[in-house]
Amino acid sequence: MNRPASTAQLAHFDAQHIWHPYGPIPAPVEPQLVESASGVYLHLADGRDLIDGMSSWWAACHGHSHPKLVEAATAQANTMSHVMFGGLTHRPAIELAHKLLRLAPGFDAVFYSDSGSVSVEVAIKMAIQYSQAIGHPERTRLATWRGGYHGDTRAPMSVCDPEGGMHAMWAGQWTPQVFADVPPARGASEQARADYLAHFDSLIDDSVAGVIVEPVVQGAGGMRFHDHELLVGLRELCDRRGILLIADEIATGFGRAGDLFTTQAAGIVPDIMCVGKALTGGFMSFAATLATAEVARAISSGPGGGLMHGPTFMGNPLACAVASAQLDLIAEGQWRSDVPRIEARLAEGLAPLANSSAVADVRVLGAIGVVEMARPVDMAVATAAAVDAGVWLRPFGKLVYTMPPYICTDDEVDRICAAIAAIVRAEETRGA
Ligand SMILES: Cc1ncc(COP(=O)(O)O)c(C=O)c1O
Repeated sequence: MNRPASTAQLAHFDAQHIWHPYGPIPAPVEPQLVESASGVYLHLADGRDLIDGMSSWWAACHGHSHPKLVEAATAQANTMSHVMFGGLTHRPAIELAHKLLRLAPGFDAVFYSDSGSVSVEVAIKMAIQYSQAIGHPERTRLATWRGGYHGDTRAPMSVCDPEGGMHAMWAGQWTPQVFADVPPARGASEQARADYLAHFDSLIDDSVAGVIVEPVVQGAGGMRFHDHELLVGLRELCDRRGILLIADEIATGFGRAGDLFTTQAAGIVPDIMCVGKALTGGFMSFAATLATAEVARAISSGPGGGLMHGPTFMGNPLACAVASAQLDLIAEGQWRSDVPRIEARLAEGLAPLANSSAVADVRVLGAIGVVEMARPVDMAVATAAAVDAGVWLRPFGKLVYTMPPYICTDDEVDRICAAIAAIVRAEETRGA
């Protein structure tokens, strides 16, 4: 096997030998080769620059190579990139926990992990261990609503949408969880919300340890938005039944939906909260599971005598240092004006697309713009149309969407809208 050297050879080698998300080997379409990324731009090996309309899967909220994050990573790499977390600790982990707990009042304990999926695994373990500790070992299941996405490892997959999601082929392979209907869309009437919550409540039985949801925005399971009041209703339901509420804020946390956390905007504190993605400003993989004092203390006095999880790279100092710098950027608060600015610009730019016969719905919330098509898009055609317009987008199913970096200028948001319009036109032509 010759060592690949040219851009074409590198992309070809990749397609033949390297798995990409949910893809086959060999890949039918060769991936774009990115040489570097700065600000809102991905710089391709062939010389083209693309606006990263995805914030690299909703994580790079301040764009790429932010100088403050690079500085934090470089300083930490020069000091100590990693030490085990069993029996040892370090300043970056402590500083980060202090900042996180200040940003999220009501929580008292932080568990660090390597990815969003693992933080959800940990949250589910917490709920089950908590139930054992309070004398309810029969509570081993989770309740959720359809249309959710919580990650790709086993326990998170079990609470993803059981049919429409990415994991339908695994159905029947793990604990059958309790699934309520998809929540009513944002703007539902008070009666519709009350009926929905009654339906959710009717499904809860003695086997349920807690409720897990993506609050306000269901992301990879369908890019649907719902009202904050539903979270208030779920909080009340969990309190009444003495079970835990887990909020997966991995996609929504740190301003993406317009507020620091959607649960805070709803005026509730969940018992457990997962954060990831933008926790490091998309700089590197890292996540955390936050728990209230009651949950942490109960688990610690329960049968295991502690939380039964402890990955090798737990509390990685490099990731903690970057996340700490990211939380400083969040605390500075520029996002508080940027996200509503982007929201208004996306709403204006995407609204005309609702007139296309190829489009079923257009919706915008915070720095999230969604165009739901009438039928599934041809991913290769759609991606090519966006790339030709100078923008990187990654539609799935019927959904063409953007989650731009908060630092996007108005002009760059307009270019993203133009790229989405190009995809709609391509789909119109395909359907003609
Ligand atoms: C709401 C939510 N939870 C969990 C995850 C899984 O996170 P990760 O991909 O970092 O494992 C995702 C990823 O898209 C997500 O959107």
